[in-house]
Amino acid sequence: MAQKNILVIGSSNTDMTVKTKALPRPGETVLGGVFTMGAGGKGANQAVAARRLGGDVKFICKVGRDIFGDNSLAHYEKEGLDTSGVLRSDLPSGVALISVDEKAENCIVVASGANNDLLEADIDASAEAIRGCGILLLQLETPVPSVLKAAKLAHEAGATVVLNPAPACPLPEELFSYIDLFIPNETELSTFSGLPVCDEESAAKAAAAMRAKGVGKLIVTMGSKGSLICDGGEPVFVPARKVKAVDTTAAGDTFCGALCVALAEGKALREAAEFATAASALTVQKMGAQDSIPFRKDINL
Ligand code: RIB
Repeated sequence: MAQKNILVIGSSNTDMTVKTKALPRPGETVLGGVFTMGAGGKGANQAVAARRLGGDVKFICKVGRDIFGDNSLAHYEKEGLDTSGVLRSDLPSGVALISVDEKAENCIVVASGANNDLLEADIDASAEAIRGCGILLLQLETPVPSVLKAAKLAHEAGATVVLNPAPACPLPEELFSYIDLFIPNETELSTFSGLPVCDEESAAKAAAAMRAKGVGKLIVTMGSKGSLICDGGEPVFVPARKVKAVDTTAAGDTFCGALCVALAEGKALREAAEFATAASALTVQKMGAQDSIPFRKDINL
């Protein structure tokens, strides 16, 4: 079977990360450790993950007419992404300020800039690419009306529409009916379903509520525990690998990108989740977002 092509529409950021013993509380200053700057943004991380893991990937995003935008574009080209859909904005390129503590947990503040300028008109201008993709992968770091428009176009053209609803924000109910695969973490699932999510049982209940809203299937990512596949049948739990995490930034993005590659290759959801689990286990063992995303040759299955 021919591999389906993957279209990622989403954010592009430059990540500025400081490692610290403990994350600061409100009003507190803490002295951190090493500072690093690298490529990030949920959209870009997912596109790069899908490409490095063997996907045929086009990336649509908006960056500023500044040095960060120039660097990002050059980087995406070097990664082998189809960048013909990368657009420029008069707003500054997106930047994320990230703190990572000694337990590998992070705190992220994003200055969206040009990401917020990816408008419905830009989606209209990319309609041909959207209608022609096999899998459309979306997140929520770009304006919701644009996400809705892209999902609708792809759904009507028969593509598989995948939404990683991060960061959680209010969504129109209409969007859910265009989503074939919804990949929230536990907090996001709780926000969208309105139900508490703390374990497999509660996640399965909340997933059923999302399916009632129109979402096709779900994979709930549950951090170091694993992920739960909810497709309407008996939920299937895929355990995470036991590894020493140093930075969880982009672990979820790697999971989403990897999952889409496996689906593009025709793998079933469970096999795809196992592939994604192996990929994200590698991401958490290195610092940074795209600096930590593995290549296909690194995956040990
Ligand atoms: O998911 C991780 C990403 O979230 C970071 O790369 C940062 O840019 C924010 O978008």
